[in-house]
Amino acid sequence: MTVTVYIPRDASALSLGADDVAQEISKAAASRGVELNLVRNGSRGAFWLEPLVEVVTASGRVGYGPVTPADVPSLFDAEFFRGGQHPLALGVVDALAWFATQQRLTFARVGVIDPMSVADYVANDGYQGLRRALSMSPQAIVQEVLDSGLRGRGGAAFPTGIKWKTVLDQPASQKYITCNADEGDSGTFSDRMLMEGDPLALVEGMTIAGVAVGATQGYIYLRAEYPHAYRALNQAIAAAYQARYLGSDVMGSGKRFDLEVRLGAGAYVCGEETSMLESLEGKRGEIRVRPPLPAIKGLFGQPTIVNNVMTLGTVPWILHKGAESYKNYGMGKSRGTLPLQLAGNIKHGGLVERAFGVTLRELLYDYGGGSATGRPIRAVQVGGPLGAYIPAAQFDVVIDYEALAGIGALLGHGGIVVFDDTVDMARMARYAMEFCAVESCGKCTPCRIGSTRGVEVIDRILGGVETEQNVRQLEELCELMLQGSLCGLGGMTPFPVTSALKHFREDFRARTRH
Ligand SMILES: Cc1cc2nc3c(=O)[nH]c(=O)nc-3n(C[C@H](O)[C@H](O)[C@H](O)COP(=O)(O)O)c2cc1C
Ligand code: SF4
Repeated sequence: MTVTVYIPRDASALSLGADDVAQEISKAAASRGVELNLVRNGSRGAFWLEPLVEVVTASGRVGYGPVTPADVPSLFDAEFFRGGQHPLALGVVDALAWFATQQRLTFARVGVIDPMSVADYVANDGYQGLRRALSMSPQAIVQEVLDSGLRGRGGAAFPTGIKWKTVLDQPASQKYITCNADEGDSGTFSDRMLMEGDPLALVEGMTIAGVAVGATQGYIYLRAEYPHAYRALNQAIAAAYQARYLGSDVMGSGKRFDLEVRLGAGAYVCGEETSMLESLEGKRGEIRVRPPLPAIKGLFGQPTIVNNVMTLGTVPWILHKGAESYKNYGMGKSRGTLPLQLAGNIKHGGLVERAFGVTLRELLYDYGGGSATGRPIRAVQVGGPLGAYIPAAQFDVVIDYEALAGIGALLGHGGIVVFDDTVDMARMARYAMEFCAVESCGKCTPCRIGSTRGVEVIDRILGGVETEQNVRQLEELCELMLQGSLCGLGGMTPFPVTSALKHFREDFRARTRH
């Protein structure tokens, strides 16, 4: 009897020794005469259980984790390959409350399938969305995306259907689909996990976008720091070409769509869409002044869709199951689900996909299990390095674009970074300013000079020098950056700084003069 065992090849699992575990299990299986079918899947997103080894049994996939190479002999002694009892046994993975209570639409296949197998992808609803899209008119596809309520997951939450309609309506002989896979936000990894764990979902989503707006060429702008995603995407693209899901005759439709991966230049600002387009064109990653919008004049001056990995990776589900099904999830103007990422000082870090409407508290305590140190959580930063710090008194806020904006925060790419009560929020404010100073593209003065002056002012506060006067100066400087910066990097850096000042003022006052 052949035993099928899943061991993730996701970067998070690899960093925790998944390759060594896979090697040890293969060796032990050979020496004990167990016939093994080893599948390297993506991560399920429960990072504290990685490497999570799963075995296919009659009652479902039974998990063991976190497994080290030293555990392998005892796992074989316990006949884990039949789902045997062992101190690391977790039971049927899908039945664990952490998974069972999630609503995985975008991540339905991640950690479940072999990411390199087109056959596995197709057997798990893959290419159903494209199949349906090819039977529809371009206008109907765009309308479906519009009706689903899908908003861009890269940070700005702009309605995806409106962007697509703008590109569709442009008369141009060449249009482009570009995927923003720069994923520069601190504490975020959902793009990476999808590209490593289900790369064909992104390939399919981009192909649907191409068919919808009449674009024949797509580019994935991938951050250079993601070598595993780079490999996975290139393998998936090659497999899709071979199976004729890409190329001159997509699924026998006579329609063309070509796709390439381009590596990024390693700057945070290259994630901003116009800067990304400059970088894709081989230039220095600097902001372009808008208008014109990329949808009208984008890559090489042509109408271009720029969408995040999560946005494009969700499109196949919407086209397959229909806009209404997607819209049934969520609340208010935030429709569907969001893959949220728990990072920082959190016991159960990882990826949780839930419909909009889940509270921050549920994420931090029900899924996250509280802080890793066991101390009270004092602050969380939601939405990357430009996101506001949210104090414990506001943890009941719901995950919804408008609700977060209502408390002066933003959702961004869904990253949640946790800090316990030992955090010094004045230092965190300094970090935000320093980040902006380091990453500024230099094109506009409020950001280029303002962020450097901001670090100096905070240093004076940290040194206990004329605290009240310097705090006032810092607030004025933040207002100037907010109003005067050309793009979100300078324009949003004030959010973490002013939220720290607002909610944690005592950390700025408590300084003694050195
Ligand atoms: C400084 C800065 C960095 C950004 N970084 C990213 C990024 O890494 N990935 C991303 O998808 N969007 C990023 N964005 C947002 C993009 O400009 C753009 O809104 C997004 O890619 C559009 O795709 P969407 O509509 O699917 O969200 C960034 C924006 C700013 C201002
Ligand atoms: S705000 Fe900063 S990153 Fe954006 S254009 Fe100005 S200098 Fe460049």
